[in-house]
Formats: sequence, C-alpha cells, structure tokens
Amino acid sequence: MSRTDTVTYDSPDTRNLLDHTRQGVIGKPLDRPEGPLKVSGSATYSAEWKFDDCAEGVLVLATIAQGTVQRLHKQRVLDMPGVLAVLADEAMTRRSTQGTAGEAPVQGVHTVDYFAQPIALVVAETFEQARDAALALEVDYVESKSPIALDPESPDAEVEDPDNSETVEGGDLEKAMHDAAFAIDVEYRTPGHASAAMEPHATIAQWHGDRLELHGSYQMLAYNVKEIADCLSIDPEKVRIIAPYVGGGFGSKLGITHEAVAAAIAARQLKRPVRVVMSRQQVFETVMRRSETRQRVRLASDASGKLIGLGHEALVSNLPDEEFAEPVTQATEFLYGGENRLLKVEVARISRMTAGSVRAPGEAVGMQVLEAAMDELAEAVDIDPVELRKRNLPAKVPVEGTAYSSRMLVEALDQGAEAFGWDQRRPRPCQTREGDWWIGMGMASAARVNMLVPAEARVTLKADGAALVETDQTDIGTGSYAILGQIAGEMLGLPIDRVNVVLGDTSLPAGAGSGGSFGAISTGSAVMRACEAIRTTLSEALGCDTDALDLKDGTATSGDLSQSLSDLLGGNDIVETGKIEPGKTAEDFSQASYGAFFAEVAVHAFTGETRVRRMTGAFGFGRVLNAKTARSQCLGGMVWGIGSALTEELAFDLRDGHLVNHDLAEYHVPVHADVPAIEVILLEERDAAASPLQAKGVGELGICGAAGAITNAIYNACGARLRNFPMTLDKVIPHLPDPFAEVA
Ligand code: MOS
Repeated sequence: MSRTDTVTYDSPDTRNLLDHTRQGVIGKPLDRPEGPLKVSGSATYSAEWKFDDCAEGVLVLATIAQGTVQRLHKQRVLDMPGVLAVLADEAMTRRSTQGTAGEAPVQGVHTVDYFAQPIALVVAETFEQARDAALALEVDYVESKSPIALDPESPDAEVEDPDNSETVEGGDLEKAMHDAAFAIDVEYRTPGHASAAMEPHATIAQWHGDRLELHGSYQMLAYNVKEIADCLSIDPEKVRIIAPYVGGGFGSKLGITHEAVAAAIAARQLKRPVRVVMSRQQVFETVMRRSETRQRVRLASDASGKLIGLGHEALVSNLPDEEFAEPVTQATEFLYGGENRLLKVEVARISRMTAGSVRAPGEAVGMQVLEAAMDELAEAVDIDPVELRKRNLPAKVPVEGTAYSSRMLVEALDQGAEAFGWDQRRPRPCQTREGDWWIGMGMASAARVNMLVPAEARVTLKADGAALVETDQTDIGTGSYAILGQIAGEMLGLPIDRVNVVLGDTSLPAGAGSGGSFGAISTGSAVMRACEAIRTTLSEALGCDTDALDLKDGTATSGDLSQSLSDLLGGNDIVETGKIEPGKTAEDFSQASYGAFFAEVAVHAFTGETRVRRMTGAFGFGRVLNAKTARSQCLGGMVWGIGSALTEELAFDLRDGHLVNHDLAEYHVPVHADVPAIEVILLEERDAAASPLQAKGVGELGICGAAGAITNAIYNACGARLRNFPMTLDKVIPHLPDPFAEVA
C-alpha cells in the first residue's frame, strides 16, 4: 500500500493534529532510546566498525600556506614497514564542503591554498605504521611568488560581495543617524571558531565491485552520497553511507571531508577496506572554520529608544572561489525595526582553511554583536535593555514587509526576566561588589531562522501492531531517535516501546539530514505524513472517518467501534512513505525561533577573570517535540555562548598561516567548571506555517545571542565595554576601575 501526498508545504496546517491525538507521548521529556548504548560505549561510531583486512590511512598535510607540491618522495616511505601505498590523487582533496556538489573542484593536491591542506594519504597495515610513514614523507614545495593575504583585514586582502548573501537597503541610514536622538556607531570583532565535535572525522571505505560503502561520520547522508559520487565521478546510486551514530558535527560534517574521498580512493586501489581517521589536530587544521568577523553596527533611535535606522555590515573571509560567506546579518533582517537600513556582508579572500557553517552560521556571531550594541543603545537612551527590545519589535519584517509566522519574543523576554530576577539588576556598572569580584547582569534576545527542507521517511505499521520508522536522517547527538519515535507513537497511538526507529543508512528514504536546526521538523513532518496515510487506511478498515479515528495504546476506536490494531491489520503490514518539501509557507512568512538570555557574571577586580555565575534562557520555537532533548539543545547552545564570550578563538600565525591552537588543550571550549547552573524555560507555542508539526527549529537557537548577554553582564559588572571577542583577561584588565575605590 502506498500513497502520494501533496509534497510541498504551501499553506499553514492549522488542524494541529498532534493536539487531538491521545497517546500523550509527543512533547514529553522521554529518554533517548539509544542513550544506554552511548553511555556504555556500545554504540558503534564510524572508526569502530570491524572489518577483516582493513588497512589504515593517515593524511599528510601541507607545511606551507601557498604554492605547489613539486615532488613527494614516495619511494623512501614505500620501503618502510607495512606501507602499502602513498596516494596523491587530484580527486582526494576535491572538496565540496558547503554546497558545491557537482561543481568544479576548488583545491587540488598539486596546489596548496592554505597551511595544512591535505596533499597525500599514506596507507599501511597498521595505524602506527601509516602515521610513522606519513610523518616521514618528504615533500618538495615551490612557494607561491604572489601569495594572497593571510589576514582578512590586511590591506592586500581582496574583498568581494559573496554569492550567498544579499544586501538589504531601505531608506536613508546616514540621514537617520544624523537625525537620531541617539546614535550608536560601533565596531565589534569576533574570532574564528572551531566546531570541536567530540568525534573526529573518520571514514572506513569498502568496495563491493563497483559499489562503494562508507561508514562515515556525516550529518547529511543523502547529500553526502552525491558529494562523494561527484568527487569520484561515479553514479550516486552506487554509493551507500552508513552512520547510525555521529558524535557531533556542529556543521563540520555537513559536507564530506578529505578523509572520506581519500579512503574511497585507497580502498579501490588496494582492493580492501581502508580506514582513515583524522587526528584532533587535523580536524582543527583542515576541516573547516567559522570565519572571524568584523562588524559595524549602527543604531539610530528616537528619544524613546525606538529605532529609526539600523546598519549591520560585516567583513568575513573564505578561500578564493568558495561559495560560503558567514551570513552575519541573517537575523538582523527581521528582528528589530528601523526602516532606514543597510545590512551587508563582504568576504575577504584569504589563505586559511575553508570557512563554512559552524553551529548557527550567521546568528551565532551576528546576534552576539547586535545584542551587545543594543545594550549600548539602552544605556544611551537610559531605558531598561528588556524594554528597549520590546519597543523595537516590528509588526512586519522591515523593508520586505513579510508577516511573521509566530514570534514569542515578548513572552520570552518577560518570562525569562521574571525567572532570572532581572528586577534585581542595578542599571549602572560597578554597583555590586562581593569581595574581590564585581557582579553584573546582562541580557540579550535570541533569534534563529527556521527552515523546512525536503525529507522522506518510511513508516511500517506491522501486523502485530508495532511500528518501524526508517530514514537516513542522522542523530548527531540531538535526539532524532527519540523524537521521530515520539511522532510516530503519537500519530499511531502506540506506547514508545512499540516504536522502533532505524536511522543513518542511505539505503533508507532520504531524510533532511542534521543541519540548520531543520532535522527534527523536516524529517519529523515526513514521519507525520506517513503516519497520516496509515491512519487513513486504518479508519477505512475500522469503518469511520479519518477525523473520527482515535488511536491509543494499540487500539483503534471511533464511537462504538473498537478494535486492536493487530486485529484490524488482519495479518498485513501497512507501509507508507511520507514526504515533505518547502512550499509557499516559506515565502509567505518570516519564520524564526526566538528567545531571551539573562546572565549574571562575576569579574575579578584585580585579574579581570570573568566567571559566569548563572544563566537563564527562555525560548519559543513552536511545538516542543521532546522537552528533554530540546532543553539539552538550549543548554548546549548557552554553553557555546559562554565559550564565544570568554575563551574560544582560533589563533592563526600570520607569519606562515598555520593554526596555532589546533587541539582542545589550546582551543578553549568551556569545561564543567566554567558552566554554572543554567535554567531553560520552554514556552508553549504552535507555528502552523513552520511545519505540519507546528514546530520550529531549536537546535541552534540557544547560541544565538547568548554571548551578548554575557558581554553585557561584564559591562554591568565592571564598566568594561569590550568589542573584541572573546573577553579574555588581558582585554578586561585595562578597563577595570580602581579596585580599591569605594563602591557607591
Ligand atoms: Mo549546522 S552549523 O547547519 O550543523
């Protein structure tokens, strides 16, 4: 049995079907079904699959930033114990990390475009032999005579308008700034960030004749199949990727990376499985970075703080010809008013590893700066920062005039402020001192665009009344297994232990993949649609209208009619594939998830050390599909905010372009000791335009602005108005007041 529904999502589904089902599992804080496997170490991650006769590959990275590889001294290495091959195939570094599948390769192994670009793969019988040989491989380079800039702000850096971002212009910003009662014109900087996913990038490749099978750690399997097929010039139908567990990605695994292509080429040549696992340092140096940004924010307001003009201009960077440019102004477009506006992103072409999507690309760094600048305006106008936000929420998206699908920002601000105790904040800096610590509070709004993307999922209601959900959707730690099971359980009236979810295999229908906070709502909508089709069949079998069908605990009921699912199915399975694609709702409405952050910090009066003491976040993102996994996403995002505000920073050596802090010892993500009690409030909301589930994305929302709240709290604590992230001690110290002065 199968049925084709209208695939595109063209008008808001206001039935709110999931509010009329009775199983009561949707939204509940259910545990992840795969959790015990993960915590006991028995979930199999990419590098852990066992194959007989598996050879081990280690990548060799360039030790110059720009030039050509003249010669690899292969023979000496081939004579080393266990070494099987040294590969330097042009296809190996063919890379389409951020959406350029099907287009020409950007870099190749004979030219070096950035320091640590992979240039070869050494394969041996054991990992130790391969690593030893890779380290021993001598490479002759010819350095470029006309190198491009290593620093985006260097005068020789070429600056372009990117392809993926459009300038928004309306009215006359200069005039608005001139006419404004209050005008803020400030420049902020954010450094590059690493995704720093727990699981390093790893692939095991194996050929079965002309069919390639990869066990790899990726976020977007259906897309990754196309990328790898494109790199190898083979038919995508011949590629299968298996990735049931992915140890985080945060954007770094949206696209395939060098180790996957290298493993596939090596396995084809050696006619045996080849595993390539990147070291932590290689992941840092070659996979991808979030661009550093320079952001100029202009805020022009009337005497009451209402914006009449808004400017947000950013300089970001990437390698030449790369398509991606950090979309810094993405949320600025719709968040606040001010008809006179100029929003623009420019990209400097520099020699550093590819810049791409890192957790909440755009908003993560754009919101933290916009919200810090808003704090500066609140101070100038002399109104409460929460009130300033509320005064500036437009009825429609400025310039373009689009309606909002739903927006719980006022509720988030109010409920967050109340829970946090914002009324205890003293508006002027340097008012609260506890021993050697200045104490301060700050806040920021959260906003992140919502996206529904194409997805398919197959649901089987088995003759025994249990359900099976199948899609290649990944679970990168976000809770896909739990959520997709809950949607099916709710729709089919089954307790959660009667639903089995199988993910992460491209032989299954293509889900959305995990990225852009769209996985749960997109693949979840496909699961919902498959279940709707099953409900129709069940209602026909029971002899009632679909709308009158009531499913709970494996029993179908309608009025006086009642039958167990297994009786109703009469020994047959029902199999349906649900599909969804974005449609008119994506154009008709501005869709975003919203929230508010509140932070309390202590800044050491002598050393400038900042400790975050507590944080509260309140978030509205449509229907909550699983209160536990949603809360975890918000918590994780706020932890990213702590890192962005205080410690995280990719440091490049401008003499040769190498990344200095290429591991978790030197690139400081927050550790337990840095993370205080964090309170997360999930608001009740339905957004029918966003998805049939009435849900919006939540994955990345918790980072979008969080660092701004901390920055603003630092100012409130000690009067240090810093505009250069992260706010490390050395930057705070020069701004500290006299530590011995009397506190007012
Ligand atoms: Mo996300 S940065 O789209 O994984």
